[in-house]
Amino acid sequence: MPGILQQQSPETTLQLDIKELHPTFGAEIDNVKLADLSDDDFKRVLELMAKAWLQHGFLVFRNTGLTDTTHVEFSRRFGDLDDIRPYMTGGRKPRYDYYELFDAGNVDGEGAVLGPDNPRSHYGKGNAFFHVDSSFNPRRASYSLLRAAKLPPPNTGGNTEFADSRTAFDTLPEDLKHRLLEKDYVGAHSLHSSRKRGSPSFFADLHPEDFPMHRHHIVQTHEASGRTNLYMGAHLHHIEGLPETESWQLLWSLMGWATRPENTVSVDWRSEGDLIIWDNTAVMHRAGGGAFEGKYVRDLRRTTVHDASSTAWGLNEKKDTRPGFNSAEKPADRKLQAAVT
Ligand SMILES: [Fe+2]
Repeated sequence: MPGILQQQSPETTLQLDIKELHPTFGAEIDNVKLADLSDDDFKRVLELMAKAWLQHGFLVFRNTGLTDTTHVEFSRRFGDLDDIRPYMTGGRKPRYDYYELFDAGNVDGEGAVLGPDNPRSHYGKGNAFFHVDSSFNPRRASYSLLRAAKLPPPNTGGNTEFADSRTAFDTLPEDLKHRLLEKDYVGAHSLHSSRKRGSPSFFADLHPEDFPMHRHHIVQTHEASGRTNLYMGAHLHHIEGLPETESWQLLWSLMGWATRPENTVSVDWRSEGDLIIWDNTAVMHRAGGGAFEGKYVRDLRRTTVHDASSTAWGLNEKKDTRPGFNSAEKPADRKLQAAVT
């Protein structure tokens, strides 16, 4: 059963109270002010958290006091950060000062709530499916750090939900587990695919097959813990080498298994400054809906850390090209460009 663990650094009075959120993954740490950590204390927190990371896959920090600036600075401690430049075409700028902050909010450039017909609302619908961030890039992401900048009223929804993709593998029926290990399937990931899946009518002219996809093995070893992980999610367009129907059947079967209620946790956002850090190579996540949609601002901002593991690049060429929407010639790209600005 979930419980509360305490870990204390021998070198300082720093102590972490780690509240487990689920029997197999997820934890909340309430008593550490991330914005105030010195370099030395950050190293000690990381050491204290090392076991928590391996076990839990995602950690919730309440009321951190982080701002845009300190959020980005804190995130850099985890590794090289991804940025949103591929999506900012035609001289467009993000609505805040940092290209390292991905916009996970529902507000326009003037701070108003996006309407349901706004292209960005259609773009965001794909995030309601369980996924891992940036699996569509040649180099995938390790950690995501999502912070609440402004929240809707309590009890209006907007939770972030997590699924334990390592335990999902562990608990698979033995015959399916053996099949996956024997075949060592490769998944083809596509941002265009998940956008179209989220709003098929709006993106009717968008054909994911027209764009490069990036390839990662589905069954992988999570190097830090040594556990086996199912690396999949909504950006996964198809499984290579399988007929389309068989590919879909296997994907739906695996996703259905991994996202059963008993394998998931729903985290509520309580205060501005709340932060959730997750390991995209150990858990999946999705954005929850609710009564706030179309009515109240839910402004969440995310930094994304480039993976540094040996499988970070999957089967992809090591090059700094990310599938933004850079083509002004393709009608489908123009529609996507409109959707992300
Ligand atoms: Fe995401």
